[in-house]
Order: sequence, then structure tokens, then C-alpha cells
Amino acid sequence: MFIAIEGIDGSGKSTAITKLRDRLVSRGFAVHVTSEPSQSPIGRLIRDWLLKPNSGVAHPSVFALLFVADRVQHYYGEVKPMLDKDYLVISERYMESTLAYQGAMGLPMSWLIELHRPVPRPDLTIILDVPVDVAVNRLRSRRELEVFEINKDFLEKVREILLSRAREVDYPVINADRSIGEVVDDVFDIITRYLRR
Ligand code: ADP
Ligand code: TYD
Repeated sequence: MFIAIEGIDGSGKSTAITKLRDRLVSRGFAVHVTSEPSQSPIGRLIRDWLLKPNSGVAHPSVFALLFVADRVQHYYGEVKPMLDKDYLVISERYMESTLAYQGAMGLPMSWLIELHRPVPRPDLTIILDVPVDVAVNRLRSRRELEVFEINKDFLEKVREILLSRAREVDYPVINADRSIGEVVDDVFDIITRYLRR
């Protein structure tokens, strides 16, 4: 089973995934946790170049093309091999991140969806939702803000697209402006309900 956890920066994805993994492992699941941008050379290029502030202005389509190239490599190079070995794979970010972030940069949704033709959709996509102010305050207390985290208006747009896609495609949305325990309980319930089906 392939699960993607999505949400704006600071929504608590990596914190929730770490706790979720522990809980699933303690129930006997073989779990592989991964994230995008991935550890592939394309993922490294994205981190080293595209996401550095003042790294030179790239056209928004360069972001989309590189994130999707990284995703295709990540899926076939890492996710699929683990699924084939019967692991439950949890990815922090996947397709919806490109639709939301690069959509918020002004790129057309239909083109962004079309770019994803080479990769399958996850079995389950779960959105962790928090107001932008909450997310930014969390990130401020944690570390320096990265390139997309600086702009609240941009993150508002990203959040809006995530929520409108969730309504359209029927993704579960978790209120992540609660304690980590409550958030993880809800995500865990959604996954186990899906597995029982
Ligand atoms: P993301 O991976 O979505 O960017 P993180 O998991 O890194 O978010 O969380 C960002 C910050 O917010 C971290 O300092 C983390 O400890 C804190 N945090 C995460 N979830 C919660 C929560 N439910 N309540 C309060 N703080 C949280
Ligand atoms: P990430 O490492 O998840 O950042 P964080 O730990 O702060 O949540 O992702 C880096 C940034 O890249 C993040 O701001 C979201 C952005 N991003 C896109 O714009 N498009 C994408 O397709 C992906 C996967 C990430």
C-alpha cells in the first residue's frame, strides 16, 4: 500500500509520519518512510539549487518539470521496489505538492496533472491541514524559513488548492491544528479503515 501525506510547510507532516511509522511497526507492519524532494540526484539538484533563496530566478515550469522528474525517479527507483516487497510505503509529499505549489505559482492544473502520466496515484492521499499563521509560527520557532515558507500569501494559495483538490478527488483532510497525538490517531484510523476494506 502506498500512502502520501500532504500539507503546507509546517503542517506537521514529518512529525506525524515518524509517530505513525512507530505505531504501524509496533502493530507488525513492514513500513518504508520516504519523502520528496527525494534523495535521488534530481532531488539533490532541487534542494541545492531550486530551493535555495537567491539561487537565480527559474521559470515556474522548471520547478514543475524538476519536481515531477524527481517523482518519476523516486517512484520507480525507490517506492515501487519497496511496494513489490510488500512494504507499506509512506511518502511525505507526492503529486499533490506539485499541483498545489506549482499551481500556486500560476501553472495550469491540467498541464500539471498531464505531467504525472508516467506515475500511479497513491492508494491513499491524506491532507494535514493547518491555518497558514499556525504553520508559519511553528516554523519560526524551529528554524530559518525556506524559500516558499516566507510568503504567507503564497502558502494561503497552496493551502486553498490542496483543500479544493481534496474536495474534488475526495481526499481525507485532517485538522492538524491539534496535538500531535490527536493528529496521528486520525491518520492511523484512516489507514487501518482502508486496510480493512
Ligand atoms: P512539516 O514536515 O509539515 O514541514 P514538521 O513536522 O517539521 O512539519 O513540523 C514543524 C514544526 O512544528 C516542528 O517544530 C514540530 O515539532 C512542530 N509541530 C508539528 N506538529 C505539531 C502539532 N500538532 N502541534 C504543535 N507543534 C507541532
Ligand atoms: P520539504 O523538504 O518537504 O520542506 P519542509 O520540510 O519545509 O516541508 O519540501 C521543500 C519545499 O519544496 C517545500 O516548500 C515544498 C516544495 N515543493 C514544491 O514546491 N513542489 C513539489 O512537488 C514538492 C515535492 C515540494
